[in-house]
Amino acid sequence: AHPVVAIVGATGAVGVELLESLTSRDFPVAELRLLASARSAGTRLSFRGRDHVVQELTEDSFRGVDLALFSAGASISRKYGPIAVAAGAIVVDNSSAFRMAPEVPLVVPEVNAAAMAAHSGIIANPNCVAAILTVALAPLAQETRIRRLNVATYQAASGAGAAAMEELRQATAAYLDGQPFTPKVLPHPYAFNFFSHNAAVDPDSGYNGEEEKVVAETRRILGRPDLPVGITCIRVPVLRAHGMAVSIEFDAPVSVERARQLLGVAPGLRLVDDRVGNHFPMPVEASGQDAVLVGRIREDLGDPTGNSLALFVVGDQLLKGAALNAVQIAEALL
Ligand code: A2P
Repeated sequence: AHPVVAIVGATGAVGVELLESLTSRDFPVAELRLLASARSAGTRLSFRGRDHVVQELTEDSFRGVDLALFSAGASISRKYGPIAVAAGAIVVDNSSAFRMAPEVPLVVPEVNAAAMAAHSGIIANPNCVAAILTVALAPLAQETRIRRLNVATYQAASGAGAAAMEELRQATAAYLDGQPFTPKVLPHPYAFNFFSHNAAVDPDSGYNGEEEKVVAETRRILGRPDLPVGITCIRVPVLRAHGMAVSIEFDAPVSVERARQLLGVAPGLRLVDDRVGNHFPMPVEASGQDAVLVGRIREDLGDPTGNSLALFVVGDQLLKGAALNAVQIAEALL
């Protein structure tokens, strides 16, 4: 029989994309239950041509549910995830609540699908940068061991939720109209600007919470707990696709040709690497796409040993960075 599916946070930026990904992947659904805060109870959302009424999330929401896709923040997941499991559901959690818990698999299906087998009711969906980054790294890492990584991100508004996307639209309109605009969701002016990621900064290390997540989760997904990773996370005024400039040092040289071959056939990736046309991965071409775009592949001249490659990766934060990956995990569970 097809599963009864609940979506927690159905009205959010990721929640809406979960509906899209369930549809685009033709995921079997016997019954769909849309859950959000009391504020949204009664809202109607369309799924496969039928209106569904959003219900308030309560402790009784999971009766009869087989699969619960959570995307309403870590505190909601911490409280209601175990309640859903106790009611008999399998939880795929998009928040950071359980990602580093040893008993909870952290999964990117193209990279470490086997880790899923050991779940005990909850499977964690990674941070958006970690998911997009590891899809691009895995085909290379399988061939030649990675010695260390350096990453600089260019992150979209969507990672901060639907309200941040709306703030980017409004701030941009106000800027073009010459009107003042006071940011409410993000800490700094977003129109025609970029800034260090809004996650809190550890006063001792100087790294922010996003950077800490990307490092820890990338290591975990790649199965490399000690991998040295340097990282800088930046918010740029883009709606929904994250970019990342990546430098990879290997144990031995990997040629640009070989990297192109490997990345060109790997699942979940599309090569966009046209030197003549100066055409490389861009948010406008990654947005709304399941595939992560990878290109700008070249030797990293910052490493005189010749063991390093540089490349650029762009993926839809709401799809591979969140909803699509969650639905792929659910597919693998079925
Ligand atoms: P709501 O729209 O009712 O506030 P985003 O990441 O785009 O900000 O979305 C967050 C999602 O999490 C929304 O669907 C939001 O519902 C939901 N959410 C936030 N707080 C709660 C809560 N206390 N109970 C249930 N859902 C919540």
